[in-house]
Amino acid sequence: MAIFPLLTAAASAQEAGAIFDSLDRIHPVWAQSGMVSAQEHLAAAIGRDIMEQGGNAVDAGVAVAFALAVTLPRAGNIGGGGFMLIHDAETGQTHAIDYREMAPSGASRDMFLGEDGEPDSDKSLYSGASSGVPGTVAGMRLALEKYGTMEWADVIAPAIRLAEEGMIVTPDLADSLEAAREQMSKYPASMAIFFKPDGSGYRPGETLVQADLAKTLKKIAAEGPDGFYKGEVAQAIASAVQADGGLITPEDMAAYKVVERDPVRGSYRGYEVVSMPPPSSGGVHLIQILNALEGYPIGALGQNSSETIHLMAEAMKLAYADRSEYLGDPDFVDVPVAELTSKDYAAAMRAQISADFARPAAQIRPADLTPYESDQTTHFSVVDKDGNAVSNTYTINFSYGSGLVAEGTGILMNNEMDDFSAKPGTPNGFGLIGGDANAIQAGKRPLSSMTPTMVLKDGQVWLVTGSPGGARIITTVLQVVMNMIDHGMNVAEASTAPRVHHQWLPDELRVEEGISMDTTRLLQAKGHNIALKDAMGSTQSIMRDPATGALYGASDPRRPDAATLGY
Ligand code: DON
Repeated sequence: MAIFPLLTAAASAQEAGAIFDSLDRIHPVWAQSGMVSAQEHLAAAIGRDIMEQGGNAVDAGVAVAFALAVTLPRAGNIGGGGFMLIHDAETGQTHAIDYREMAPSGASRDMFLGEDGEPDSDKSLYSGASSGVPGTVAGMRLALEKYGTMEWADVIAPAIRLAEEGMIVTPDLADSLEAAREQMSKYPASMAIFFKPDGSGYRPGETLVQADLAKTLKKIAAEGPDGFYKGEVAQAIASAVQADGGLITPEDMAAYKVVERDPVRGSYRGYEVVSMPPPSSGGVHLIQILNALEGYPIGALGQNSSETIHLMAEAMKLAYADRSEYLGDPDFVDVPVAELTSKDYAAAMRAQISADFARPAAQIRPADLTPYESDQTTHFSVVDKDGNAVSNTYTINFSYGSGLVAEGTGILMNNEMDDFSAKPGTPNGFGLIGGDANAIQAGKRPLSSMTPTMVLKDGQVWLVTGSPGGARIITTVLQVVMNMIDHGMNVAEASTAPRVHHQWLPDELRVEEGISMDTTRLLQAKGHNIALKDAMGSTQSIMRDPATGALYGASDPRRPDAATLGY
C-alpha cells in the first residue's frame, strides 16, 4: 500500500489529481473522449451514448436531465427546477442558466403561517401550496437552443422510451418509494403510478412503467415548452395544485421565465472557481469559505485533521450566518455578492477565527455589509471531447417533492416553496434560517443551496462537480474542491473521504462515520459540539487533465445506482 503520498500535500494538485497508475489508491473511472457522472446509471449511459454519436456536452446534459426525470423520480424532474453551468471551450466562457421555480402570482409573505402565527411545515412541504412554478423544461430548452447541437425531440426520445417501456426497479428505488408512501398517499394519481393497484410497493427486479409521463414527454417533444407551460398540461398542474390548497394558475405557468446570469467567480490557490450566483447561495458561500481558508496552510495541516476541520467549521459558520441575512433572489433584493466573495472580506473573516477555540454560534451575527449594487436533489456532470462541460444540479426539493402528481401528467410536483423563509428566524426543512431577503413574494425564486461548480485551470475545465444535500450541498462541494487542491487527492478519493458540515445554526459540527474518535475528541476540546449523523451528499464529478484531455470521474459511493461512464 502506498500510503505515504496520501499523507503529504501534493507538489502540484494537477499532478496529484492525475496520478493513479503506479499507486494503490481508490480509483476513478477513466476515459479519453467524453464522460457523464450521474446519480442513476441508465441516464448516465444515455448521455454517454449521445456524445459518442457526435452530440456535445449540452446535448448530453439535456438528455440526461430528461432521462433522470424518469429513472430517478425522487429528484430528477420536469416538475421542479435547478441550475446549469455550461462551459464553452471554444470561447472560454462559462454560462449560468437559472431555471429555479418561481413563486406563483398569488403567493404572499405569510402564506405558510398557521393561526398560531408559526410556520406550518405540512403546508410548505406536503400540499399543493408547496409547489413553485417549475422551470426545468424552460431551462433545458434554453440550454439546448443556445449551446447544444441536436434536435429537441431527439434528446427527449430516450426518456420517452424509458417511461413507456418501463425500467427495472432497483432496491434503492423500491426503498425510496416506500419511504414516500405517506406523502403520496393523499394523492390517488401519485399512488396509481408509483404503487400497484392493491397498494403494495414495487419490488426490486419488477418493472415500473410511467405511461402518463411518457405521454407528457411526447407532447413536450412535439410542441416544445408550450406543451408544458400552455394547454392541457399547464391546466392539469394548476387544477391539481389548486385542489390541494395551492396557487399555481395557468397564467403563472405561461409566465415562467428562465434567466441566464453571470456565474459567480473566485480563485483558490491558482485555480479559478466558477459557480452558481443567486438565487443560489451555493457559489457565493463556496467562494467565501475558500477565500477564508486560502489564508491557512490547509495542505500542511492535513486532510480531516482536527486543525483543518476546526478552521473549516469556523469559516462555514460565518458564511451561513451571512446567508441568513443577505441571500435571496437578486431580481428582488440586492445581494452583496462582490463583498461576500472578496479577498478583503475573507481577511476580515480570518480575523474573527481563533485557531484554538470554536466560537459559539450564539456569538456570531451576520456581518455588517452594504449591498454592493442596487431529501432530494440530484447533480450530474458532463465533459465532451472538446472540453465543453455541463454542471447541473436540479431538484423537486424533498425526495419525491410534495408527493403530488397532477392527474394524467405523470409529473411529480416540487415542494420548493419551503426553501423560502416562512418566518424570519424560524428554520426551514433543512434547519436554515432566513429573513427579509428570502421572504415569500409573488414571482420570486426561493433561495437555494445548490452549487453546480466548475474549477478551471488556465482557462480550461479542470473539475466539474456538484451534489444534492440541502444545506449541506455547499460544504460538500467545498470538500471535494479542497480534497483535490489542498490534499492532492484524485477525484475518487476526494469524493469518498469522510465529510463534515457546520451551518451556524444549529450550533453543531456534523461529522460522518469515518472521522476518527481521536479527531472528534480534539475538536470537542476546542469547544465544538460534535454530531455524528447520516452520510452527506452524492457528488458526481469529472476531472479533466488539461495537458492530455483525459477524463477521470467518480460517482459518490454514498448512494447506490450512480454511474460515471465514459468512452
Ligand atoms: O435548492 C435547495 O437548496 C434545496 N431545495 C435542495 C434540496 C436537496 O438538496 C435535497 N436533497 N438531498
